[in-house]
Amino acid sequence: QTIYLKDYTPFGFDVESVHLTFDLSPNATRVMSRIAFAPNPEATDHRFYLHGKKLTLIKAAINGEPVRPEVTDEGLTCPVPDGSFIWECEVEIDPEGNTALEGLYMSNGMYCTQCEAEGFRKITYYPDRPDVMSVFTVEIKGPHPVLLSNGNPQVQGQGHAIWHDPWPKPAYLFALVAGELVAHSDSFTTCSGKAVDLNLYVRPGDEGKCAFGMEALKKSMQWDEEVYGREYDLDVFNIVAVDDFNMGAMENKGLNVFNSSAVLASPETATDGNFERIEAIIAHEYFHNWTGNRITCRDWFQLCLKEGLTVYRDSQFTSDLRSAAVKRISDVIDLRARQFPEDQGPLAHPVRPESFQEINNFYTATVYEKGAEVIGMLKRLVGDADYARALDLYFARHDGQACTIEDWLQVFEDVTDRDLAQFKRWYSQAGTPRLAVRDEWKDGTYTLHFSQSLPASAASPDPQPQVIPISVGLLDPNGDEVLPTRMLEMTEATQSFAFEGLAARPVPSILRGFSAPVVLDRDVGTAERAFLLAHDTDPFNRWEAGRALARETLMAMATTGAPAGADYLDGMLAVLRDADLDPAYRALMLGQPSQSELAAALAEAGTTPDPDAIWQASETLALAMAQHAQDVLPRILAECRVDGPYRPDPDQTSKRALGGRALSLVTRLDGGTQAAAQYAAADNMTLQLSALGCLLAAGKGSAEVAAFYDQWQDDRLVIDKWFGMQIAQAVPDKAATIVAALTEHADFNWKNPNRFRATLGALTMNHAGFHAADGSGYRLLADWLIRLDPVNPQTTARMCSAFQTWRRYDSDRQSKIGTELERIASTAGLSPDTTEMITRIRGAK
Ligand code: ARG
Ligand code: ZN
Repeated sequence: QTIYLKDYTPFGFDVESVHLTFDLSPNATRVMSRIAFAPNPEATDHRFYLHGKKLTLIKAAINGEPVRPEVTDEGLTCPVPDGSFIWECEVEIDPEGNTALEGLYMSNGMYCTQCEAEGFRKITYYPDRPDVMSVFTVEIKGPHPVLLSNGNPQVQGQGHAIWHDPWPKPAYLFALVAGELVAHSDSFTTCSGKAVDLNLYVRPGDEGKCAFGMEALKKSMQWDEEVYGREYDLDVFNIVAVDDFNMGAMENKGLNVFNSSAVLASPETATDGNFERIEAIIAHEYFHNWTGNRITCRDWFQLCLKEGLTVYRDSQFTSDLRSAAVKRISDVIDLRARQFPEDQGPLAHPVRPESFQEINNFYTATVYEKGAEVIGMLKRLVGDADYARALDLYFARHDGQACTIEDWLQVFEDVTDRDLAQFKRWYSQAGTPRLAVRDEWKDGTYTLHFSQSLPASAASPDPQPQVIPISVGLLDPNGDEVLPTRMLEMTEATQSFAFEGLAARPVPSILRGFSAPVVLDRDVGTAERAFLLAHDTDPFNRWEAGRALARETLMAMATTGAPAGADYLDGMLAVLRDADLDPAYRALMLGQPSQSELAAALAEAGTTPDPDAIWQASETLALAMAQHAQDVLPRILAECRVDGPYRPDPDQTSKRALGGRALSLVTRLDGGTQAAAQYAAADNMTLQLSALGCLLAAGKGSAEVAAFYDQWQDDRLVIDKWFGMQIAQAVPDKAATIVAALTEHADFNWKNPNRFRATLGALTMNHAGFHAADGSGYRLLADWLIRLDPVNPQTTARMCSAFQTWRRYDSDRQSKIGTELERIASTAGLSPDTTEMITRIRGAK
């Protein structure tokens, strides 16, 4: 069943208050609700309909009189009196049997909830839609020492707790947690002097992994006050770590629930990358308190209203705390790896979709990451000062409301007097715009001629030109900047910009900072790329020049067997040697484009990508780089050595990032001697895991794999890494076999989403392994998707996107994937979630 944005109508009733009582029991939890309804004067349809799924209705009453509602699998209806009334209802649910991890479920003996997007209807009958906001009081009865819900605690006794949340909220922000948990506590005093109790609740044994998350929370609270003027609004802020969780984390009001992988960290068990991700996710969920909770979405089509903005805000936070250049480059790598394939394939949809079947399938890179890019462009277009004024107006005007993208754009129009009608196409048109540019030099005037085009797609059959902010700088032939960064605002299909009074033909640096999420098409020779790699003052475009050199040499190597490009090798060596450059930046420079990015680039250039040839080219280039840099590598390794206790700060993290790259190159020359030494000496997970990865890549490390397991078998999050690393480093023709063997391991708990992702997800990310010519990767993934679907449709549906790029490959691979898609699609009882994904993936060419 398809739902359309254009069909929105308000709910017929306002909910004036909600009182819930939970009597907890693993297979028979009772939920009593008492809800005050009043007719909604804004609505025309006053039919009383409540959502409800997998609920056993025990009894219901209106104004104290028992009623017998008409119940279906999806909800209930019932005649109601005119005017206000009290609805009371009791249902029974089965948290332990809830393997979908949506609604109220159990994870390691602890109760927890995930209600976004439509999980609350699996807890009780309710108008489960984000535009219905109410004040909740929640009473919990259970034998557990910790009983939590949203808001402030009113009663906290033995086996009994009452929580009251004064802020009206939609049901998707409801949360409940009960278990034998221990708290890591702290406090934060807000800008107006209010003390807030902070708690991070974890399972006993995990206390030592809380300190970093807590610091990140306090930094987030401080940052949101300083940068956005947003103060926290309850007496307590609780975070709970849960092992079984479909996503990263959830911003429930006053009670954030986190996947334990997104919050728990210690130097021994978490890598630098884990620490950075945790800091960003803590910030993201905290920032939702204003962008998501105080101001929420009218309907799920507006998801990017909260997600795009909150991703944008967390990226600003990370840029402020760490290196802005490194953050920007990392975000663009991620955007190209996850969002571009989505935007350019059968799953393409606008940042604000206009229809869906299962909303959980739209928590996508397009809604989140392209949604954040759109905010960044808006800020670039209006400038920092007007962005700040628009945000102030947004918070002042819409606090307590459920809003739309129209509301969001209106505050910018009101503050700037701009007409944003054309800009709005970024929200409504699917696909990645292509920006072609050619240049012209005449009589001291340099002109850039741009043309934009957006490929027509099923989602956007008749695309129109978008507003593209193009940041440009010009360098003279000596490498000095003759025109500092300036923003060109492109609005037409084709448009030219002239720069006068130049002494010599300049070298352009276009789309600095990746000022718009487009594909830039320009004929550039390797000499010009090498020039920008050496001289560009914009750190993003400098990196981009190196990236382009890498991509071009790899494409030539993979298709014609050409040798590694000299411009690339020399340019990289110069970067590697440049001790003035941040080591983390140098590490990013040295990273190769991913093999799937190369496959996309080849397909785009009209060549059918051969995954084995691409893998071979990547290996060959890494070896060539190692040989070329042979003399400087020992010095780099020495420079990157960190003395003193481990800290996941920018300085140390940066050194370990470059050290890790250097070690992987060295391993190609010494066969693993230094990696084995690093493994043996490592006292933190970053060094231990990077050494293990190097050894496995060199075909060594079986002793270390065994030792690693022995050392960490009691730590789930570390064992996820153990599964994942063996698969990431598997050679293409062994990948499926290794994965199949690991799924036989006693610790392969396939119902745990983290473990499933560490195993089958890792397979999909081993490009040549997943695309093995015999189809073994496709078959294995399909087998497991079919098995997981009845247990956890959400995680299954997400992972189907591994097949979204199938039309890129040769006819033999396409037919093998086609067979697996057909097999999944024809599985009896396949979930609506997975059905929608497979249908879309198969549908478009
Ligand atoms: N709102 C959460 C976040 O971005 C994501 C939760 C989505 N969950 C889901 N089942 N679709 O932080
Ligand atoms: Zn979010």
